[in-house]
Amino acid sequence: MHLPLISLQGITKEYQMGEVIVKALQNLTLDIEPGRFVVILGPSGSGKTSLLNLISSIDVPTAGKIFIDNVDITFLNRKQRAIFRRKKVGFIFQFFNLLPTLTALENVEFSLDLIGIPQAFGEPSYDKILIKDVAMNWLDKVGLRDRADHFPSQLSGGEQQRVAIARALAKNPPIIVADEPTGNLDYQTGISVLKLMKQLNKETSKTFIIATHNRQISRIADLILTIQMGKITQFEQKEPIDVENLVW
Ligand SMILES: Nc1ncnc2c1ncn2[C@@H]1O[C@H](COP(=O)(O)OP(=O)(O)OP(=O)(O)O)[C@@H](O)[C@H]1O
Ligand SMILES: [Mg+2]
Repeated sequence: MHLPLISLQGITKEYQMGEVIVKALQNLTLDIEPGRFVVILGPSGSGKTSLLNLISSIDVPTAGKIFIDNVDITFLNRKQRAIFRRKKVGFIFQFFNLLPTLTALENVEFSLDLIGIPQAFGEPSYDKILIKDVAMNWLDKVGLRDRADHFPSQLSGGEQQRVAIARALAKNPPIIVADEPTGNLDYQTGISVLKLMKQLNKETSKTFIIATHNRQISRIADLILTIQMGKITQFEQKEPIDVENLVW
């Protein structure tokens, strides 16, 4: 029995749009243990991105509390949230979001430049050569060593997403969030990206949280949170199936 890595307690998120209040999330309470491969499954507008934004402290809830690693992050100010995010969360987006003027390698290095490489003792190291080494190792892990000098515009969609995965994992955060990570990829490329994420979840024991509207993709998760109109309607823990067996 693990302590939860992520604990949401009575979370509500409302957006004020002029006179109108949009209720995006309503009274969500749930725990996520470390090392899980979680899929948040729900139709467009159900609140998936809103939920990811709260877990990764991009946004703050209207009501309720959020604990990460037993730390209450609900009331951190903007600057504290940015520091928290930098250390604790790696992001993978639908449209990859690589910096277009940096090469694949530089994109991965950049995320490390911000927090440095942790050392066994003392402060993190910002040594350029060390950072380059770690970044290159991650590109190697995602199969892109020979694409290190390519700019995003010189990479295929699947390759760009693999750079984004390397970038998310390189800084060694406990949580990886991915918002529709295969939404902009063809079927085969999507499968290979999912396979890579499952493999890295196994190897690194990091917690992966993936938002999708694709029920097939949810079958590879060991925890499926179904969300409808801002409410968790199902919390299923089950034996995941192999990515190879997915069809959609
Ligand atoms: N910044 C915002 N301001 C106002 N309303 C918002 C904002 N972000 C989201 N909403 C509204 O909140 C609801 C949930 O949106 P959210 O983006 O979380 O859904 P989603 O499940 O991620 O949808 P999709 O699958 O289309 O990405 C929607 O009704 C949306 O219009
Ligand atoms: Mg969304």
